[in-house]
Amino acid sequence: MSEGMKWWQKTNVCEIYIRSFNDSDGDGIGDLNGITEKLDYLKELGIGAIWLTPCYKSPQADNGYDIADYYEIDETFGTMEDMDHLIAEAGKRGIRIVMDLVFNHTSDQNSWFLESASGKDNPKSDWYIWRDARPDGSEPTNWRNIFGGSAWTWSETRGQYYLHTFLSEQPDLNWENPEVREALYNVANFWLDKGVGGFRMDAVTYIKKPALTDGEPDGRDGRAAIHKMTANTEGILDFLHEFKDRVQRGRDIFTVGEANGVRASELSQWVGDEGVFDMVFEFSHMLIDLNNEIDWSSRRNWSLADLKRILGDSQRNTAENGWYPIFFENHDQPRCIDHYFPWVSDSENGSEESMAAKVIGTLMFTLRGTPFVYHHFLIHEGRTEEEALEAVRHFSRDSARTPMQWTAEENAGFTTGEPWLPVNDNYRTCNADS
Ligand code: GLC
Repeated sequence: MSEGMKWWQKTNVCEIYIRSFNDSDGDGIGDLNGITEKLDYLKELGIGAIWLTPCYKSPQADNGYDIADYYEIDETFGTMEDMDHLIAEAGKRGIRIVMDLVFNHTSDQNSWFLESASGKDNPKSDWYIWRDARPDGSEPTNWRNIFGGSAWTWSETRGQYYLHTFLSEQPDLNWENPEVREALYNVANFWLDKGVGGFRMDAVTYIKKPALTDGEPDGRDGRAAIHKMTANTEGILDFLHEFKDRVQRGRDIFTVGEANGVRASELSQWVGDEGVFDMVFEFSHMLIDLNNEIDWSSRRNWSLADLKRILGDSQRNTAENGWYPIFFENHDQPRCIDHYFPWVSDSENGSEESMAAKVIGTLMFTLRGTPFVYHHFLIHEGRTEEEALEAVRHFSRDSARTPMQWTAEENAGFTTGEPWLPVNDNYRTCNADS
């Protein structure tokens, strides 16, 4: 390893989907103390940073990606003392905690939004993206949100529509407003002052909105996908350079952007010294089996040569432009065996599955970049059998969110209570212990 490398280029990162990792209090939902209990295990695996999915106060409409208060821990996951304890205990073991910053939107229960929605005349009236209805009462544009349905929701109290890239419970913030940006930088600095080691920037390529005009319809509903209209539009880098100046400069942390819509040719503006982040997630290998990124149910066949070409391109870009996370799954994606070795996951042969897992593991730890392991890969997961579950397995995000399998004991040792999502049946043989 070269001398000049940063700490985060020399370590492994583990993404922890808190809800499914380890439950310390028997309510069936993983929590912060559950992570603290497993720090020695993570250290033993060579993990130097934990990307923690959102644990802030939230009504959990999108499992925490809808934040009601950036300065509080959701009681489902513990308390601020538990968080401080986790940061400190992790630090003793040389593990940094990396927070998920969800800055494109908040929860509709966030006090910022409640105030903004209370009427047209209040100090936060311009903190979200509000527009009048068209003369016929319909939505201001034909945009479809990423989860389906209109990207606009009507507010009775305000008498206007607000924009949301994701669920209607996740209203988009108005980054054009300097007060909003200031409030967000304060949030980031609050967490850095607590000693966190960096940030994963959620959905960050959507923060800058172009002119709000109708898009070319791309589906039977007559709507246009919002992300086609808003991902990575002109001017976004000005915001992100400001973020870098106000938050990152002078701190020994890393930032990784969830950067849908950033093209390989633009990478040097996004990562590295001249860029805005240390790394960005590059999704081309994740999209390998999709005909287009709008319609997740429209799949295509792909060959090993396709995968080699995609990974080769991405490695070349990395060499030229900076550094990538290496990842083959996360909490939004199908499990990697199902994704890349579908014929293996359909077979009854467990040894083929472990071989497939080893192949992915080998790629993961030999490509250039920082390996981002998802905790489910820490064990090797099997598959469901029923044909009827086929579609669900590929498209439901739940299949990537089942509880971690620690032991062969009841509920795989994840909880002493009732797990929030059923544990995969294979836990008796597939568990971290075995
Ligand atoms: C990101 C997260 C995903 C979430 C969405 C909205 O894509 O990874 O889980 O639903 O942002 O915040």
